[in-house]
Order: sequence, then C-alpha cells, then structure tokens
Amino acid sequence: MDVKGLVLSGGAGTRLRPITHTRAKQLVPVAGKPVLFYGLEAMAEAGIREVGIIIGDTGDEIRAAVGDGSQFGLEVTFIPQDAPRGLAHAVLTAEEFIGDSAFCMYLGDNLLRDGVASFVDKFREGSADAMILLQHVPNPSEYGVAELEDGKVKLLVEKPKEPKSDLALVGVYLFTTPIFAAAKALEPSWRGEYEITDAIQGLVDGGHSVEPHIVTGWWKDTGQLVDMLEANRLVLDAIDTDIQGEVIDSKLEGRVIIQAGATVERCHIRGPVVICAGATVRDAYIGPYSAISEDAHVERAEIEHAILLERSSIIGIETRIEDSLIGADCVITHSDAIRSANRLLVGDGSRIELL
Ligand code: DAU
Repeated sequence: MDVKGLVLSGGAGTRLRPITHTRAKQLVPVAGKPVLFYGLEAMAEAGIREVGIIIGDTGDEIRAAVGDGSQFGLEVTFIPQDAPRGLAHAVLTAEEFIGDSAFCMYLGDNLLRDGVASFVDKFREGSADAMILLQHVPNPSEYGVAELEDGKVKLLVEKPKEPKSDLALVGVYLFTTPIFAAAKALEPSWRGEYEITDAIQGLVDGGHSVEPHIVTGWWKDTGQLVDMLEANRLVLDAIDTDIQGEVIDSKLEGRVIIQAGATVERCHIRGPVVICAGATVRDAYIGPYSAISEDAHVERAEIEHAILLERSSIIGIETRIEDSLIGADCVITHSDAIRSANRLLVGDGSRIELL
C-alpha cells in the first residue's frame, strides 16, 4: 500500500511564547535539532517518500529549514493553509496532494521516542480505514481523549473538561480516503476549529474501522514550555558520545556531543550535553541535560538543565543558571555598574526568576 506523509507545521504557537514570537514552534530545537526534523526523520524511517508539509504564517522559515527534503531522503511538497482553522481543515487543504493514497498525518510539534515505522507497517499490513495512536497520560483534558469498549474506539472528545478515560490521542494518525468526507461534514468546535478528533468520530459513527494502538515508548507534544524542556531531557538521555569539535584543556564526563566547528576550552562538561556547531564555551561548567545551540557563547558561567538557543551568550555570571530556556540572540551578562540592582531588557511574555 502506498502511504504518503502529511506533516502539520502551520498554526500559531501561542503557548510557547516568547520563543515563538520570532520563530515557528516546530523549529524550536530539541537537543540541538528542530522538533520538526524528528518527525521528518520518522517518516523516512517508516519508508514514506512523498511528504506534504502544511505551512501557515511561518511558512518561509519552514521552507528554508526543510529545503526540498532531500536531507531526510524525502520528496517534500509545501502546502499553504490560508489560516489555522483546525487539523481537519489542514487535511482538506491537502486533499489534492494526497489523492487516493493512504497517508500518515504527523503533528509537527510531536515527538515519539520510537518514531512511527511500526505503526505504519501494521497499517500497511491490515485493512483498517484509519488508525489512531493513544497513550495513557495524567492530564487527559489537555488532549483529544478516546474511550474504548472491548478494544474498539467508542467515543473521541477534543480536550474534554471531564475526560472519560486517560487515553490521549497522540499527534500521529493513519488515514484512507473516507477521512475527507468525514472532515467535510464537520461544523467548527467550541474553540472555532475543524477538529480531526470529530472527523475520526464521524468515521466511527459511519461504520468505518478505526483501529486504536497504544504507544508504549515516550511521546511529547512540545507545544508547551515544560514539555519542551522535558523532551530535551528525554532526547539527551539517549545520545551517544560524539566529539567532532575542538576540545582544549577540558574535562568531559558522561555522554557528550560536541559538533564540528564548536570550541570548548578550559571547561567541565558533564553529560548528557549537546554543544552545536559554531558554539564557543570557555571557562565554564555545563551540567547534565543542557543543549547549547549553533553559534551560542558561554564564558565564565555555570549552566545545568538548560537550553540556550542560537547566537545567545551567557558571560560572567557567578550564580548557576538552571532549568532555563533562553531564546535566540539573547545576552545575559554581569554588570559592575550598580551592584545592588538588576538591569534588564526583556521581551514581551518572558519569565525571569532572580535569586
Ligand atoms: O499533540 C496531540 C494533540 O494534538 C491531540 O491530543 C489533540 O487531539 C489534537 O487536536 C492536537 O491538539 P493541539 O491543541 O495540541 O493542536 P495544535 O493546535 O497545537 O496543532 C498541532 C500541530 O498542527 C501544530 O504543529 C500546528 C499544526 N496546525 C494546527 C492547526 C490548528 C496546522 O498546521 N494547522 C492548523 O490549522
């Protein structure tokens, strides 16, 4: 069975502000790599070649980052969506691209430890009209929620106030052509969106077979800040040491990636840590679960469990910086001017905790 890919990379990203004031939420790096790239790699690994990417306001950035898809072994077609009117609306926007193929729809801010190959294979081998992936979660009302009966899908509700189960819909779905008619029959939900959850309920009600599948490896929707830090931690937990950059007079412990073009000098690095190309780290301590993005700079500072995005610098800070996500092009430095005051230039929606 020919299976195409449909990756959703439009939408607004309001919950990740201020980081997403200036970039697409799908391009925020997890362990030094845009979250969207993990999804594209998962598609390629599942043997999918033709992938459509839904784009919105941030489309130019997504196009620039993904290119023609050849870096992933994919043929990518960009599909502009006029406005983020819901996941089912995105599916309808892609109808012409999908044609009569089966397809794997992947929400561009989702991350699954084990990718999607096993689910795609199972779908190819079976005869279901659709497959949904589910996972037990402690906070089901933040997701689409599925109620099963005798192992079959009975009811699907988008972000219910009083969830009937703890089974959340993971942002990966397998569909065949009946999904288009189900999406066309929808009315907007209470939040004004055409919900894919309601379209799948339409399939169930119309007698189509929708196979549920429980995901056992970890899954993260990185749409919120805490989940982004958690995803970073989970991905870093599984890295292998790979030192390509320049390391001078430094102590490296545990699993550490230092990409080519990075410089580490007189440092103590305790993994798991990723230091990306072009970054410079001098006279610093970088502790577990830290990711230093491209061209970032850390000097005379200590950081731990923190993500530092591109081109930002932390220089001459005496107290350790922990549990932090620092955006791109930021400067955090020490000032001797007035010892008892803090001087800040901070963007809208930022959160800073001074100790
Ligand atoms: O992550 C899993 C959850 O994803 C599911 O449990 C929910 O049932 C499902 O509705 C979805 O909920 P979210 O509220 O998290 O979806 P979000 O608006 O964040 O959109 C998911 C991705 O799709 C994101 O990368 C943006 C993109 N998108 C979103 C909309 C609404 C589009 O490309 N177009 C759109 O119109």
